[in-house]
Amino acid sequence: MADELGFGVVGLGMGKHHCRSVSEAKGARLVAVCDTDEERLNEMMERYECKGYTSYEEMLQDDEIDVVNVAVPSGMHAQFGIQAADAKKHLIVEKPADITPERVDQLIGAVRDNGVKVGCIFQARLNPLNRKIKESIDSGKLGKLIGVHGHLPWYRAQSYYQGDHGSWKGTWDMDGGGSLMNQGVHTVDLIQWLAGGVQSVMGMFGVFGHEIEAEDQTVALFKFKNGALGTIYTTTCCYPGMDQLITIYGQNGSVMKDASELLSWKIQGENEKEEEEEMLAQYGPKENKEAGISADPMAVSSDGHTVIIEDLVEAIQEDRDPMIGLESARHAVEIINAVFESGRTGREVEVK
Ligand SMILES: NC(=O)c1ccc[n+]([C@@H]2O[C@H](COP(=O)([O-])OP(=O)(O)OC[C@H]3O[C@@H](n4cnc5c(N)ncnc54)[C@H](O)[C@@H]3O)[C@@H](O)[C@H]2O)c1
Repeated sequence: MADELGFGVVGLGMGKHHCRSVSEAKGARLVAVCDTDEERLNEMMERYECKGYTSYEEMLQDDEIDVVNVAVPSGMHAQFGIQAADAKKHLIVEKPADITPERVDQLIGAVRDNGVKVGCIFQARLNPLNRKIKESIDSGKLGKLIGVHGHLPWYRAQSYYQGDHGSWKGTWDMDGGGSLMNQGVHTVDLIQWLAGGVQSVMGMFGVFGHEIEAEDQTVALFKFKNGALGTIYTTTCCYPGMDQLITIYGQNGSVMKDASELLSWKIQGENEKEEEEEMLAQYGPKENKEAGISADPMAVSSDGHTVIIEDLVEAIQEDRDPMIGLESARHAVEIINAVFESGRTGREVEVK
């Protein structure tokens, strides 16, 4: 359809999920895919009957493409994004926006100069339960926030860090870290988004279970802008990989959830018991829960990606800001870099 926007996906690891999401999203059409790995490229070209490029520069010259999805290694996001913005393409950028705040700022500058729009992938912010919890914090229902904590005891085998598509992972220059920047950035973003931003951090990190450069275990303390305290724990060493755990404590109550399900909802009030039962019925544990992302990197759901793509399409059509912009995605990158700085210096580091 002529009023559909044309999409080009670069980087066909996680980019495979982008292909599926683009093909499912309203108002979007997958025009082309790009990867230097011809096996991955051919597989996607055949599956979606679209054009394929081994050269990103060539794909950017394709006039049918209005939006580029950047899903190359994290340390290349800003560079690929700037090239696309200069070619007047809108953008979907995978998490993290890039690996340093300075690079994200360069991308923000290029996007502004070229008048294009960017939707960032932080799909956890779209999860209905996470939105419900955020509403309870913002409306004051939970009372003054005391603490927000994130725990990510995941597992990745050594082979995850090896080979053509693994060796950039867990490096400083391409991954910007390890368990905290790659796997943990969703948890960092989720707790900073729930609590309303981080003011300062203290952290420790190291390599415990793999042969990698950066870190596979990080522990940090967060002081949130609203005065609450929090902690984050991320690792890829915990065999066989367990679920993310988020706990939120306010003056009026406590909420606990894993990656997808509510575990506990106890907020003081007249209907405390009924409300807890209702919340657990709607968001609580379901039978036959599938093993997922804690052990398998490709078990990510693409539902959130589809919503973010549809939102970008609407934002372009309505000339408004996308739901998750670069400025908001930047904070997690700032926080993570501050944790590493704290780990290196042994000092509390302010997040500007
Ligand atoms: N949203 C999520 O939950 C989620 C999950 C996994 C990964 N990711 C993100 O997706 C990005 C990619 O991660 P991945 O695990 O898919 O990595 P990957 O290494 O499997 O995929 C990256 C792809 O980019 C291609 N590539 C590299 N340089 C290129 C170039 N110059 N031109 C064209 N293609 C090039 C590689 O050949 C590879 O196929 C990372 O930023 C990661 O953080 C997000």
